[in-house]
Amino acid sequence: MAALKAGRPALDAVEAGVREVESDAADHSVGLGGYPNLLGDVEQDASIMDGRTLLAGAVAALKGYPHAISVARKVMEMLPHVLLVGEGATRFAGEMGFTLAELRTPDAMAAWRERLLKAMPLATFETLHEARDLAHWVYLASDPERAGGTTNFIALDAEGNLASGVSTSGWFAKYPGRVGDSPIIGAGNYADNRYGAATCTGMGEMALRAGAARSVVLYLKTGMTVDAAVRQAMLDLNDLGGDYLDSMSILALDREGAPAGFTNLEQGEIYWMLTDTMTAPAQVIRTFVQTHKRWGKR
Ligand code: GLY
Repeated sequence: MAALKAGRPALDAVEAGVREVESDAADHSVGLGGYPNLLGDVEQDASIMDGRTLLAGAVAALKGYPHAISVARKVMEMLPHVLLVGEGATRFAGEMGFTLAELRTPDAMAAWRERLLKAMPLATFETLHEARDLAHWVYLASDPERAGGTTNFIALDAEGNLASGVSTSGWFAKYPGRVGDSPIIGAGNYADNRYGAATCTGMGEMALRAGAARSVVLYLKTGMTVDAAVRQAMLDLNDLGGDYLDSMSILALDREGAPAGFTNLEQGEIYWMLTDTMTAPAQVIRTFVQTHKRWGKR
């Protein structure tokens, strides 16, 4: 809000907001202190989208840089590309002058060790880097309660420009290289000044398969209200087959600044909103929508 009140664009506000969460070591789903993958590395996914131009930038499986959102913005601004992954993303972050940092905090690593040792013998844990059966262990190490968490920001500036930003360290103990919905434009993030913006948090595979964020914006384009658009995108998740269906929350803002927050998690989940006439951010209860949940090899 400080950025917006200073006349800076929605993109700046979104980037600044996401950076706050990425800096918070107590948040184990994003940035510094994010829970690591199966091999103990923090791999980050992030994206940013400019609703004015539909330009977007994203990074996936980025290691060693705490502000994935800012690297994503540089991809948008400096390259003729949208998405960089893995080694390329890391190389680019270095080229752009971002500072390397240790993202693996002691408490996140302790939680990782404890979690894996509940699922596998010590000898297996100690030789995981050489293991040829990580695909087996990933199912033991992941569970829907601990699967993930993501930060979502959407901003509308005084010029009527929308921007959206998403950042996450993804599933706890995910298979190395696993990429969720957060850096995928249309899945976890979409913004278009003409209609609105939407972002997702929860089980990224569901938003990927349903194209959830883009669906919300397309539903807005058909003339639905923002509530109806997000509800329909949530209900679309019921069309997903298979065994790995779980939490999903969608946040949206229409071009007039009307917000909507929905979840299938539980009654009482919240999001935060702030307008220029408010003195402090307010918690808003998300609308609960029941969708199918089933988790295969529990
Ligand atoms: N929604 C974040 C993820 O699945 O990685």
